[in-house]
Parts: sequence; structure tokens; C-alpha cells
Amino acid sequence: MMEVARSSGEAQRRCLAWRAEGLRVGLVPTMGYLHEGHLALVRLARERADRVVVSIFVNPTQFGPDEDLAHYPRDEAGDLAKLERTGVDLVFFPSRDELYPPGHETTVSLARLPNHLCGLSRPVHFGGVATVVTKLLAICLPQVAVFGEKDYQQLLVIRKLTRDLFFPTEIVSAPTVREPDGLAMSSRNAYLSADERRRARVLFETLCWARAEVARGERDSRRLGALMRQRIESRGGVVDYVAIVDHETLDELERIDPGALERGAHAALAVRFGATRLIDNLLLTSQADRDCPAGRAVTR
Ligand code: PAF
Repeated sequence: MMEVARSSGEAQRRCLAWRAEGLRVGLVPTMGYLHEGHLALVRLARERADRVVVSIFVNPTQFGPDEDLAHYPRDEAGDLAKLERTGVDLVFFPSRDELYPPGHETTVSLARLPNHLCGLSRPVHFGGVATVVTKLLAICLPQVAVFGEKDYQQLLVIRKLTRDLFFPTEIVSAPTVREPDGLAMSSRNAYLSADERRRARVLFETLCWARAEVARGERDSRRLGALMRQRIESRGGVVDYVAIVDHETLDELERIDPGALERGAHAALAVRFGATRLIDNLLLTSQADRDCPAGRAVTR
């Protein structure tokens, strides 16, 4: 039977009791409006833990003043039904006051990682994510927590804070789940009009194209980035950033040489279609077709 906890005390007691029985607790933090991408995280947590906790909380501190907090899609009943079917043990559904009680004054911030990619146009975002994830880890005390690779910068921020703050939690990442045309699943896809949704497939097509170009020998990140931008703009996307970055530091790479590919290089982007900002990323490799259907990798 799936339980629902609305207070942090209740959630923590449940998790501590499981730990006292020698059970491994897995946590999947979410903001709800769940889709197949979230359920894949839950299934991975299920493989890695004896008890799975999913938190659902639309965290106000990670939204800037002009962002979509007020409109962020919500579906409590639908989410609970999906989680029950997927096999979750506890859903933690805190209120805003539960996680940010009156008088709270502690926040968590990182000095370097947020000064890249999404952090540049969303200056409060990663501080908000770091703060709420720290709270969720402290409440649920999981041995393992699972996050998606679509939010790649977020994944790095969480890995770093877990290490820096000595949380005994293993951070596991799950591959991005995509729609049949390659668009990364995201709760924000629900905002797209039919026309924007059709055009948004250019994001994954462009990432696959970039990977194919690298496999064909392209080494100049600036030229590759400019061509990626052109492809996206030609389909009506408004580019926030397109960047080729080191997969650990997120520093922009000037050249995509074999050493960089060996260390790990990501093509990452954030693009608006209408009012909707979408992000995606892909590891660059010398194999054009890894994760990219052949047709998509060579689309011009
Ligand atoms: O990825 C998300 O849904 C959120 O950023 C997270 C990790 C649940 C923190 O609010």
C-alpha cells in the first residue's frame, strides 16, 4: 500500500523506520505533473533500493520572479495514481510552509557550477534547487537518490552538494526519456502549442547532427555552436544558449579534440518556443549513431 506523508516529521519517521529494519531507501525528488521520464527514475530507484520515496513539491525558490511558478502544471490525483501503479512506497507531498516555515533563513549555494549555462539566465535557480534538495535529503535520509540526465547541470550541482555536505547518499542518474520524435520529455512540454511542439523536435535533431559532425571530424566548438544555432533559429526557436562544454566542470570547450571527448564533452542547449523554455543535452562521442536514430543524426 502506497502511503502519503504531508509533514516532514511523518516522512522522516517512515524512512528512519525502514533504515532501522536494514532496508535501503531510494528517493526520487520531483515537482509533479509526472510523465514517463519521472516513472523511469522511479523504476531505477526501485532497482537500487528496497523502499522508494517520491517527493512532489513545486519549489518556489528555484523560480525567478518572471518565471512560470504560478502556471506550473499540477495534477495531484493523476500523479498519485501513476505512482501507485509504478510501485512507490511513500509519496512526500509537503506544503510550501512545511519546507520553508515562517522564519526559515538557511539556504545552500554553490560558488562555481551555477555560473554556467542555465545559471546565467536563471540566476536564482540553482540556489533554490540546492536548498530544496538538501532539505529533501535531510528529511528522507536516502541511501540512493535518482535524478534525470536531461537536467544535466542540476545533476552536477546535486552531486557536488552531496559530496561537499557529506550526505551518505549515492546520486544515480537516469538517461533522458524521449518522445518518439526525440523531444526530451518534460512537464513544460504541456505548454507548447501544436505548431511549437512540431518545431521543437529540431532540438534533438540538432544535438544528433552535432554529434555526427564531431564523429565526422569537426573540432571547432565555435563553428559547431554557430551552425547548431542556425538550425534551431531556422525552425523558429529563440536560443538562450548553445554550448559545447566539459561534462564535469561545464567550462566551454574551444576545441573538441580526442582528449576532450575522452574526458567527456556535452552539447547543451536552452531554447524558447513561444513562452516555453526547453533544455536538452547530449554527450558527444566519436560514434555518430549512439542514442541517435540514423535518420535523425544526418538530417540537414
Ligand atoms: O528536477 C526537478 O524536478 C526539480 O528541480 C527538483 C530536483 C525536484 C528540485 O525541485
